[in-house]
Amino acid sequence: MTDTTRPPVTDWATDFDHTRPEYAESAPEIWEQLRNECPVAHTDRFGGAWLPVRHEDVAAIARDTEHFSSEGVIVNDFRPVDLAPIGYAPPITSDPPFHQVARRLLLPAFAPKQIDRWEPVARATCQELLDELLADGADVVDAAAQYAQHIPVRVIADMLGVPREDGDKFRTFIHRILEVPGSGGPGEIEYEDTLDYYLDEAVKERRANPRPGSDDLITYLIEADLDGEPLTDDHITGTIGLLIIAGIDTTWSAIGSSLWHLAQRPDHRRQLVEDPDVMVFAVEELLRAYAPVTMARIVAEGVTDAEIGGCPVKERDWVLLPFPAANLDPEAFEDADQVILDRQRNRHLAFGVGIHRCIGSNLARMELRVGIEEWMKRIPDFELAADDPDAVRWSTGQVRGPRELPIRLLSTNEVA
Ligand code: HEM
Repeated sequence: MTDTTRPPVTDWATDFDHTRPEYAESAPEIWEQLRNECPVAHTDRFGGAWLPVRHEDVAAIARDTEHFSSEGVIVNDFRPVDLAPIGYAPPITSDPPFHQVARRLLLPAFAPKQIDRWEPVARATCQELLDELLADGADVVDAAAQYAQHIPVRVIADMLGVPREDGDKFRTFIHRILEVPGSGGPGEIEYEDTLDYYLDEAVKERRANPRPGSDDLITYLIEADLDGEPLTDDHITGTIGLLIIAGIDTTWSAIGSSLWHLAQRPDHRRQLVEDPDVMVFAVEELLRAYAPVTMARIVAEGVTDAEIGGCPVKERDWVLLPFPAANLDPEAFEDADQVILDRQRNRHLAFGVGIHRCIGSNLARMELRVGIEEWMKRIPDFELAADDPDAVRWSTGQVRGPRELPIRLLSTNEVA
């Protein structure tokens, strides 16, 4: 569903709107057009926002925390007020020096060894989903809605120690925050239906019923301290909210886009089956070519000398950081528009760059690899179900991936 109240775009260079369905469907073509004509686009919408599309500009802004603040990371009609340097979802909305403290707290839980422990859970989840998907013998299935979306939801619910059934709520919260940013404000929905309420209740419940010795992430954050002081409730709920938002749509999109790609490339499907060693490169290449996440910054308060690729910008302007556009820049990657599954040199920006680089990258890579591996074992041959490109629906907003992906199954295998 899209916010239809925003008028259609007349010119992507001077009036862009990344929340429009045309952007969702044709973002790579729009970035290419801008790269050739106007690599730093502007819009008066959202109170003024910039959209650089060159790798060089996107990376420079992500690294420049002095001029560009993370106080707001989702562009909408409202600007956050007085939230720096902690922000509402630490560490992604935090600026230095607080950012480092909040980030270090989370790093151990997402280290490679910790994530290895979750691989069997992710694999079993994929197998269960495929069992359900293939149970009734349908020859067309929705790979986004019936498969990809459930993998990260179930894994993150287990990591937080909340019921997997809460996944439906997670998807509603995410839709409001990412797909229709700025919606769901006071008066629009009951407080009991908000992410804030869910998080407050989850923390209250865990405090009332502690789980000593459990390594779930809510318990971990409740028991953690910063210089001997327990975390504030706002910090705990903000970080849990971040893990739900950052961990689900992103990976769902990456798995969905990868299956969308493979559905159209029999040669790539064969390559993965005949040479499983390619998978580790394929994961990186699919992340480069179909990077789902665009972040944002706000030109920091009091800054008078910021510029993007030579364009002066003013304090409190929004700036989008389209990492996916940077990944398709021919100045940065040879044959940038081609998917080369075994690409060797691949320093893509799918997980960002600089101090905010994704903490969940090990988890995301594992879920993407396992999601494709298990699908390919059971469904080695498949194609897009319809010739009509509109049958595939892409999400709107700052996380891009297929939300409806009808796939025709051409051959399936029984469980080994
Ligand atoms: C394919 C999947 C994913 C992609 C493409 C992705 C992408 C990104 C990007 C681009 C950033 C940088 C944000 C910025 O510069 O402002 C980021 C940060 C972050 N991501 Fe991910 N992400 C993915 C999955 C995950 C998962 C599964 C988790 C955890 C459950 C996660 C947790 C985080 C956190 C906590 C940060 C903030 C780091 C900081 O501010 O220091 N991400 N992610």
